[in-house]
Amino acid sequence: MSAVTLPEVDRVLFTEEQIEERIREVGARISRDYQGRTLKLVGVLKGSVFFLTALARRIDVPVKVDFLAISSFSNKSGAPGLVRIAKDLDESIEGEDVLLVEDIVDTGFTLRYLLQALAGRGPNSLAVCTFLDRNSRRIVQVQVDYRCFEIPDRFVVGFGLDHNQLYRNLGYVAVMKPDKGTSQH
Ligand code: IMP
Ligand code: MG
Repeated sequence: MSAVTLPEVDRVLFTEEQIEERIREVGARISRDYQGRTLKLVGVLKGSVFFLTALARRIDVPVKVDFLAISSFSNKSGAPGLVRIAKDLDESIEGEDVLLVEDIVDTGFTLRYLLQALAGRGPNSLAVCTFLDRNSRRIVQVQVDYRCFEIPDRFVVGFGLDHNQLYRNLGYVAVMKPDKGTSQH
């Protein structure tokens, strides 16, 4: 799919080549940091699937993979940041070296919730790798150990990130046009 055929897409932020290059670098760093250990990649459905599979191929220590799904909602007063696990991991993470893989860290609410939930299950270690980081919108401070790209305060799609469930399959990351109802991230 090419950007020119998508009227909703403003411009390409990261090309396939840039993404591949950056994932190679981050994968090499992770491989060095986890030398001699087995790593469990925990992906957050659905957005992180595309990044996780690309990253896993660039890691050369033994890797296991598991997934969970979350749903976010607001309370009656409209306060954001409420998250629950909608589909849990298949296996225990007790004693394992866990790397939580995210598509994007925005306000940080999702990641804070997940880190608390996973830390309580007794992993040997727990670290975070995110594909995109929009630090300018952070509301709660959270630990991010590896990031591929810092992004500006614009809604983005592609490489796993969606708008109304579409565009996840783009090989690149693109900025959406501002009039597409994307002001609420
Ligand atoms: P947080 O709890 O605010 O950090 O929420 C992060 C979640 O919001 C991500 O996992 C995405 O599902 C979603 N999200 C935030 N920004 C974007 C974006 O620019 N495009 C697509 N999804 C986004
Ligand atoms: Mg997500």
